[in-house]
Amino acid sequence: MPIIGLGTFQIKDPESMKNVLTTAIDVGYKHIDTAFTYSNENLIGAILKEMFNKGEIKREDLFIVSKLPLNGMKPDAVEYFCNLSLTALQLDYVDLYLLHFPVPSKRCDKDKEVFVIKDGVFVTDNINLMDTWKAMESLVEKGLTKSIGLSNCNSKQIQRIYDSAKIKPTVLQVECHAYFPQHELHEFCKKLNIAFTAYSPLGCPGFPEFALKDWGIKDLDKPKLLEDITLREISKKYDKSPAQILLRYLIQRGIAVIPKSSNPNRIKENIQIFDFSLENEDMNKMKSMSCGLRYITMTYWKGLRQIAVRVENVTNQRPLREKLRTD
Ligand SMILES: NC(=O)c1ccc[n+]([C@@H]2O[C@H](COP(=O)([O-])OP(=O)(O)OC[C@H]3O[C@@H](n4cnc5c(N)ncnc54)[C@H](OP(=O)(O)O)[C@@H]3O)[C@@H](O)[C@H]2O)c1
Repeated sequence: MPIIGLGTFQIKDPESMKNVLTTAIDVGYKHIDTAFTYSNENLIGAILKEMFNKGEIKREDLFIVSKLPLNGMKPDAVEYFCNLSLTALQLDYVDLYLLHFPVPSKRCDKDKEVFVIKDGVFVTDNINLMDTWKAMESLVEKGLTKSIGLSNCNSKQIQRIYDSAKIKPTVLQVECHAYFPQHELHEFCKKLNIAFTAYSPLGCPGFPEFALKDWGIKDLDKPKLLEDITLREISKKYDKSPAQILLRYLIQRGIAVIPKSSNPNRIKENIQIFDFSLENEDMNKMKSMSCGLRYITMTYWKGLRQIAVRVENVTNQRPLREKLRTD
């Protein structure tokens, strides 16, 4: 998996996507991160097809990631949703298919309705995560994806899946940046040989606007990572932008990054991080920025806040199950 990829969350306009993808591929991005939930796989598919036809890039030179939505976690829905993504992307396979979020949402008639909120409560479905994982394994066996992985999972969930999996998760994708550096989870994944991808590596400055517009949620008052004073000082010292320092900090820790930008200059800027390295002293300063601030907590709705993961006793080989606690 290339250590830098292009994030595509919130890019929904065809012209913008064309500009973004052609710029990104032109300047060397080989890794594209998307998801059924982003509602843009059809745009990506159409643009890539044109580029493949014109010989501008070959399919095998790209690493394309998609994700199983929350309403697709019933075992018999997994292949259906993977195929929806493949059809939209106009591809025979993706390189990595991630389980997007370890909480199944009730499935509606409309596939696009990826989660259900009723009276302010997130409506879950009672699905055993291991059964979903087994269905993910069969995607690899059928050649629909080269590999499978997890997103937004904690170490307990990862361990449970890892222990019983026939095909092990290859990647974990989670929020990770200088304010929320995930040292413990990263070390845990290293031990299991699971590669680590940082989403929102720049602190997702566009998220509050999105959350307000699309979800009606006010999440505006968090300090902005890109404006951090320590970061600004380091940025001056290296004559690199704050975004470049944030990304360099993560790749220097061996963590893949998938910054999103709709701006061609920033797309170029974000990949220009291989011509310098941060000295130990500055890596330590970056480390000291850690303050436990997460931008995407997903606990906006009652129901998600109340979910507790209960790990059942495995010794008698009873299946492990996610349980809802409704206290
Ligand atoms: N697995 C998951 O649950 C999950 C969750 C969230 C995200 N993701 C993935 O991770 C990707 C990245 O995360 P993200 O989009 O949340 O946040 P991000 O990459 O941390 O930040 C993107 C924001 O930063 C701005 N930006 C980009 N480059 C910049 C630069 N050089 N200087 C200043 N601002 C810059 C962008 O604005 P402009 O577009 O105007 O440049 C955009 O508003 C997503 O696109 C998605 O593919 C996965």
